[in-house]
Amino acid sequence: MRVTLRVKRSDATESAPARWDQFEVEAEPTDRVLDCLHAIQWYQDGTLAFRRSCGHGICGSDAMLINGRNRLACKVLVKEVDQPITVEPMRGYPVIKDLIVDMEGFFEKYRSIKPYLISPATPPLREHRQDPKERDRFEDTTKCILCGACTTSCPSFWANDQYVGPAAIVQAHRFIFDSRDQGQTTRLNILAKESGVFRCRTIFNCTEACPRGINVTKAITQVKKAILTHLFRRGAPPS
Ligand code: SF4
Ligand code: F3S
Ligand code: FES
Repeated sequence: MRVTLRVKRSDATESAPARWDQFEVEAEPTDRVLDCLHAIQWYQDGTLAFRRSCGHGICGSDAMLINGRNRLACKVLVKEVDQPITVEPMRGYPVIKDLIVDMEGFFEKYRSIKPYLISPATPPLREHRQDPKERDRFEDTTKCILCGACTTSCPSFWANDQYVGPAAIVQAHRFIFDSRDQGQTTRLNILAKESGVFRCRTIFNCTEACPRGINVTKAITQVKKAILTHLFRRGAPPS
């Protein structure tokens, strides 16, 4: 089948405004939008820029706006979307070129919530033990691949880019609710700040956008509750 794609193009090194280029490619209905982008890049316009790595929904590098929704290009089949297929870079971060945005701000927020297990100073003599019920508390948020689709579809983030954003909160959730972790209070203090979870207005775009099916809004709500329970109600305001 013939597939028509309209791709938003721009280049941070040039002063020209963004433009839309239209391409026609031959594809199977079960081909992915990523395959179409490759067909353009390999056979029609080698200057088209986009990120991809795994090609199978694991690395999170090819999140982009496809027909107005944040999605992974490697997970969207041609037959699933109306034509012409519009492809744009994610919103809210500066565009470097075409579909590639500068994710440094995103990863800075990710690092700010200390995304690693904080162990006791004296490690246990045997392995850290955890029963299945304890593990279930953060199972959903372990699935995050840091694609950025949630944060860049959040109106609270568009309104204020200081907001730490749903992706960083999902990552914090993964450790806050891990019974082996000792950094709960530290992370809750970070997320109780002005730029933290209470900037979330429960709009749900993040949950809708997540290609891993994570209930992002639920995770954010659990972190809000943990802050209210562990920090404010105990009379220890966030520092
Ligand atoms: Fe991507 Fe979902 Fe993780 Fe957000 S929570 S970064 S949408 S995988
Ligand atoms: Fe934004 Fe999701 Fe909250 S879209 S406002 S982070 S529920
Ligand atoms: Fe890795 Fe799509 S290329 S998630």
